[in-house]
Amino acid sequence: MRLHINIDHVATVRQARRTDEPDPVRAAVLAELGGADGITVHLREDRRHIQDRDVRLLMETARTGVNLELAVAHEILALALELRPMAATLVPERREEITTEGGLSLDDSRGRERIRETLDRLREAGVKTSLFIDPDDAVIAAAADLGTEAVELHTGSYANAWSAGRVPALELERLRCGAERAAALGLRVHAGHGLTYENVAPIAALPVIEELNIGHSIVSRAVLVGMERAVGEMKDILRQARHGTAT
Ligand code: PXP
Repeated sequence: MRLHINIDHVATVRQARRTDEPDPVRAAVLAELGGADGITVHLREDRRHIQDRDVRLLMETARTGVNLELAVAHEILALALELRPMAATLVPERREEITTEGGLSLDDSRGRERIRETLDRLREAGVKTSLFIDPDDAVIAAAADLGTEAVELHTGSYANAWSAGRVPALELERLRCGAERAAALGLRVHAGHGLTYENVAPIAALPVIEELNIGHSIVSRAVLVGMERAVGEMKDILRQARHGTAT
């Protein structure tokens, strides 16, 4: 089971001040030291968090590999084709959403053709392809038909059930069946969205899932486990400035 760390939220904090810290590229180095098997970033059309510069630098510095999440959009695709990340995951994108709220819609034929074309171009550039979809049979079958190598099953409904205090047995079963169906169709199976330290174990136990993409919960925990040290370091500088001694 590979763990890819989504570092978008590190960039969100940086963009709150439009400064140069925290740098998601540095966060990626530390994530890899912690055992990350890959670095995931979503370059949104509105550039609300990850910037082009981040993706360019990550391509040079990530030791594991970059999974670039992108909408089917001309400009972002051009960058993906230029940079050729290890993998690209096509995701839906709505400007007003807080985060990616649902899986890709594969309902209409024009949309499907655009996705097919995008997948073809990525594959020709040597990029592994994945589609972020809901774990439903019809969508999984449509994804397989489009020629993607992998699907990332959206775990948001499962995570929402968990946080609403319900036993997410139905959602877990939906994911289990979806994962097995996707694997039976020859797809590689990834999963992600809303996974936390509390709810991840039943998903991680599903044998056909090869990769998890987790962001919010890990970045949130990193802020908390790092707080004590960060404050201590600032206190040392203050002491040094006043008394010429560190602790
Ligand atoms: N997978 C995809 C396709 C996503 O868009 C996101 C959120 O950016 C994630 C995984 C990670 O979700 P979370 O931040 O809730 O762990």
